[in-house]
Amino acid sequence: MDIFLMAASLRKDSVNKKLTDLCQKILSADHQIDYANMTEFDVPLYNMDIQNSSGIPATVNDFVKRITQAQKIIISSPEYNFSMSGVLKNLIDWVSRVQPMPWKGVEILLMSASPSMVGGNRGLWNTRIPLEACGSFVYPEMFSLADAYKAFDQDGSLADKKLQSRLGQLLNDFINKGK
Ligand code: FNR
Repeated sequence: MDIFLMAASLRKDSVNKKLTDLCQKILSADHQIDYANMTEFDVPLYNMDIQNSSGIPATVNDFVKRITQAQKIIISSPEYNFSMSGVLKNLIDWVSRVQPMPWKGVEILLMSASPSMVGGNRGLWNTRIPLEACGSFVYPEMFSLADAYKAFDQDGSLADKKLQSRLGQLLNDFINKGK
C-alpha cells in the first residue's frame, strides 16, 4: 500500500517527527512510504488575494499530488494551546481551495506527541474538524504519545514496549480495516 506519512512540525528535533520516523520503520517492510516533512510545505498564510493573483502555490499543489497518490495518510501533529497547530490548519485551508476537493474521501490516521501527560490529544480533536468538514475519513482511533521527550529509546523505538505494540496494532488496523 502507498502511505503518505508526515510530521506536522517545523522543528528540527520534533518529537512528532520521531514518532513518524518510528511509524516509517514499522511500516516500510510491507508498504511504500512517501515520507514528508512539514518544512517542504512552507506556504504563505492563506489569503484569497494571493490565490486570485498568483493561484495555488506550487508547494500546495505538490502536497495535493502526494496525498492523492497515496491510499492512506498518517499525520502526527503538535498540540498548541490545547488546540491544533496553526501551520497545519493553514495547509489544510490552502488544500481545500483546490478543485476537486483533495481531502474528499481520503483516509487519515491522526497522531500527536507532546511532553505533557495527555500527549497532544486535545489538539487532535480539533484537527479532525476541518479534515472531516472537507470530506476526509479520519480514523476513529488516534494515537497520542505522552511524556514524549522521555518516551523514546536510543534506537527510536518506544521505551514502553506495551505502547510500542499498541502503536503497531493501531497502524495495522488502520491499514487493513480502513474506513
Ligand atoms: C506548546 N506545547 C504544548 N504541549 C501540549 O501538550 N499542550 C499544549 O497546549 C501546548 N501548547 C503549546 C503552545 C506553543 C505555542 C508551543 C510552542 C508549544 C508544547 C509542545 O507540545 C512541544 O513544544 C512539542 O515539542 C511540540 O512538538 P514538536 O515540535 O516537538 O513535534
